Formats: sequence, structure tokens, C-alpha cells
Amino acid sequence: MADPITILGIAGSLRKDSYNKGALRAAQQLCPQGAKLELYDIAGLPLFNQDYEQKPTAKVTEFKQRIRAADAILISTAEYNYGLPGVLKNAIDVASRPYGDNAWSGKPIALMSAAMGVAGGIRAQYQLRQCFVFLNLDAVVQPEVAIGNAPQRFDAAGNLTDETSKKMIAQLLQNLVYKVRLMRQPMKAAA
Ligand SMILES: Cc1cc2nc3c(=O)[nH]c(=O)nc-3n(C[C@H](O)[C@H](O)[C@H](O)COP(=O)(O)O)c2cc1C
Repeated sequence: MADPITILGIAGSLRKDSYNKGALRAAQQLCPQGAKLELYDIAGLPLFNQDYEQKPTAKVTEFKQRIRAADAILISTAEYNYGLPGVLKNAIDVASRPYGDNAWSGKPIALMSAAMGVAGGIRAQYQLRQCFVFLNLDAVVQPEVAIGNAPQRFDAAGNLTDETSKKMIAQLLQNLVYKVRLMRQPMKAAA
């Protein structure tokens, strides 16, 4: 039996009734066998200030430990003004510093979004993907899970009800877990 795979789920929204938190709860139910999704709340991370990066708060230290302990990351982000919410960008920056101590480096990552608009937050996803290059995050490319018209796809309790979105999330998780399993295999010498 392969070692269990732990995925760390991060919502790019602090809102209590966030659709993106709902999407992550749905993802917990859709994890492939042998994988589990743990949720991490970025509320309480300080605003990044380079003057203090050598003296991280307990929350920053914990966040970086949780990232490092995970086999993979799943982000579900809101879209603010056609872009990435500041709270999520801040969380990404905080865990990337100080220079040489980037907690994200080498992690497989998958991305999804939920938003009020028809585009489902896809513009925020593309901004995020740009950061992944410098952070050395190994992103799953397909499927692109962007849940548009969110109020029609979640119930009053904020739980995802849309079956098409659930199928796409299940596929995204399968692709993420496949990437983790591939990375665990020893490299074969070229013939
Ligand atoms: C500052 C702000 C900017 C927003 N900009 C967008 C946007 O560009 N595109 C969009 O589809 N929805 C936009 N919305 C609406 C969000 O999709 C909506 O608030 C959604 O519920 C946020 O995700 P959450 O439920 O996970 O918090 C914006 C909301 C706020 C508060």
C-alpha cells in the first residue's frame, strides 16, 4: 500500500460563508483513495513586511510547516477586480520568504476558483499561475475548474451542489495525486 498523500487546501477568501471554502469542503469528499485534504485558514497571517521576515510570527512558522509537511497543495481562490485577492497573494509572499527559505518550492499544486461572474474567477487563476514560475510550484494544468455564477451552484449553507463542478474537481484531484505519485517514483536512468 502506497504512503497516504496529504493535500493542504487553502481558500483565497477570508469570508465565513465563502464559496471557495465550500469548494474545498466538496474537494474533501472527492479525494481519490489514499489521499486526504486538510484545510488551512490563512486568516491571522500578518501583512508581509520585509523588515520582519527574519522574525516570523508563530502563525507564519506554522503555515510554512504545514506547507512543507503536505505532499501537495490545492488552492481555491476568489477573484477580486479581475485579479488575485490580496489576502492570498500576501499568504503566498509570506511563505516564500526569507530568500532561500521558500516553503512552496517543488510542491505539486492544483488550482480552482469560484466567483459570482460567469468567468468563475479564471483571471485570478492566471495571475496565480504566473507566481508559480518564480516559486517553483509544479502546477497541474488541466482541468481548469472555474465555478461561475456561484450562487446557482452552491446551496444556502455554502455547499457545492453542481454535479459538473464536482466531476471536474474529482478529476483535478486525481491529476494532482498522479503527479505526487510520479514524483515519488525513483528516476530511471536513460537507456
Ligand atoms: C473587492 C471585490 C471584487 C470583486 N471582483 C470580482 C471579479 O472581478 N469577478 C467576479 O466574478 N466576482 C468579483 N467579486 C464578487 C465575488 O465573486 C464574490 O464576492 C465571491 O463570493 C467571492 O468569493 P468567496 O465567496 O469565496 O468569498 C468581487 C467581490 C469583491 C468583494
